[in-house]
Amino acid sequence: MNLNHSVPATARPLKIQILISGTGSNAINIAHQFKNGQLSGLGEISQVISNRPKAQGLNTAQELGLATLCVDHQDYEDKAAFETALIHAIDSKPCDLIVLAGFMRVLSPEFVSHYAGRIINIHPSLLPAYKGLNTHQRVLDAGETHHGVSVHLVIPDLDAGPLIGQAILNIKSDDTAETLRQRIQAMEYWLYPHCLQLILSGDIQLMTDRVIFKAPHIQTTATGVEPWPEDVILNQTMSTD
Ligand code: GRF
Repeated sequence: MNLNHSVPATARPLKIQILISGTGSNAINIAHQFKNGQLSGLGEISQVISNRPKAQGLNTAQELGLATLCVDHQDYEDKAAFETALIHAIDSKPCDLIVLAGFMRVLSPEFVSHYAGRIINIHPSLLPAYKGLNTHQRVLDAGETHHGVSVHLVIPDLDAGPLIGQAILNIKSDDTAETLRQRIQAMEYWLYPHCLQLILSGDIQLMTDRVIFKAPHIQTTATGVEPWPEDVILNQTMSTD
């Protein structure tokens, strides 16, 4: 099913699959939001998949009663074989939307095309700046004054898909890569569920290569969306605790 042409009401609750590689704290946070938070009633997690058997997030997801599966990339002779197995695993359960949350494999254009308009990712930078790895240290090394995190539609080009949501912070003089990681992650725990809520409620429509903002309250810019400032996010998080 493609979210392009709006999902029929009878298809609700929409089925989400989350792909992880490690801690999986975003996946677990999203699971809690589905259970009794801002995402409740909007969808269900049908499966959490890791490409690493020892991923901590797999155990935590299992403890929460979620269906989990490991498709270990090391068990396959090449990327194509791994992705064939991954597609098989995903397609074995209902899936309206694939949520990448710390999934550390670069997906091929063939894989992305197979699920065109149905994969989203969270990346710790203000895309289109700082694609790729080690963003916190690279931002510090470059002497940037701002840093942030982006949720975007996945397209075949790496970290290049249209933006769905962004959050921004001011870099402090004593920030390190580790403090930035922590501050960014605190914003992620609000931003990713927020973006999911907009998608699942129909306020944002995902096309194969673009995102349509249907709700007037979403502030867009020429390049994407207006980033949410850190203090606004922290205030919202505290008021819902
Ligand atoms: C997040 O910080 C996200 O931005 C990046 O990978 C990290 C995953 O963390 N893509 P976790 O596994 O969700 O704890």
